[in-house]
Amino acid sequence: MKILGIETSCDETSIAIIENGKKILSNIISTQIDIHKEYGGVVPEIASRYHIKNIAAVLDESLEEAKLSLDDIDAIAVTYAPGLIGALLVGIGFAKSLSYTLKKPLIPVHHIKAHIYSNFLEHNITLPAISLVVSGGHTNIVYIDESHNFTNLGGTIDDAVGEAYDKIARVLGLGYPGGPIIDKMYYNGDENFLKITEPKLTGEYDFSFSGVKTFIINYVNRAKMRGENFSNDDVAASFQNNIVNILVKKTIKAALEKNVSSIIIAGGVAANSLLRKRLSIEGKKYNLNVFFPSIKLCTDNAAMIGVAAYYKYEKFGENTYADLTLNGIASLSIEQD
Ligand code: KG4
Ligand code: ZN
Repeated sequence: MKILGIETSCDETSIAIIENGKKILSNIISTQIDIHKEYGGVVPEIASRYHIKNIAAVLDESLEEAKLSLDDIDAIAVTYAPGLIGALLVGIGFAKSLSYTLKKPLIPVHHIKAHIYSNFLEHNITLPAISLVVSGGHTNIVYIDESHNFTNLGGTIDDAVGEAYDKIARVLGLGYPGGPIIDKMYYNGDENFLKITEPKLTGEYDFSFSGVKTFIINYVNRAKMRGENFSNDDVAASFQNNIVNILVKKTIKAALEKNVSSIIIAGGVAANSLLRKRLSIEGKKYNLNVFFPSIKLCTDNAAMIGVAAYYKYEKFGENTYADLTLNGIASLSIEQD
């Protein structure tokens, strides 16, 4: 089964062709990072416009790389939520017209699930599992049972972890996106330079990153006001140390409590080198298999949409196919999808 996946939920226009949920025949990603860099974050209206401008060319390139024509495709899959509404609509409209004109079934895909499924492209994963989803828009701990049912155990009550990285990078004047830059700086700084406390939360798998953000903004402003010198590397290292420790602790706790043997990390922040290292080390201690996608599959891409659609089809068969109105699915949660 060859599925054409379409992803336009944020600032990447991506179209991929995936065979039988495992083989990437093509995965073309047109990123808008250089355009949004100027503003220090994604500007939704600009993102939508660039998706419109690029999507047809991305489709052509994807077919060309896979050496296929649209006739060879069995189904069209598209991210329907969550994401920037204008950006999503470009991909959804495009997918609907392909589905209608080519008379091929349409499979709507939940973006967070797709991030998790990116791991299934490269690894053989035993379920049940705990997944930590960490991206620019999301921070969730999710339980996945043997039948691929998803339960959200907790999430951020304010900023997403990637968002916190991007905001701290802006405060320190480092550029966008902040994650990869801070990740590199970590190795030149002292991770114990700032003593940052962990926020107290009611939900044991909930997160809050607004406190660490305010703490660092206050530290930087106070130091500047007093004319004190500090090293950006030390601040970046302390921030990353604090964030990674919290993510690792809660993920391991959830895995032990739910008695799973697999941990799946997903989303843009899954590219973080310290998170990869510390979770692997902690996982080993408890006999847990920790899986990460390769770096290219961490950030937004359509290969993950194709693979998520494949598993959805495996589970629900032709009931996965949506009619073109996509009635009632605009904002389904990961459990309802
Ligand atoms: O999954 P993604 O491409 O987009 C969303 O769905 O949000 O994630 C983008 C986020 C950005 O906030 C970026 O700063 C972060 O992932 N990121 C990282 C790293 N690489 C990307 N954060 C920490 N460390 C990294 N190495
Ligand atoms: Zn994403």
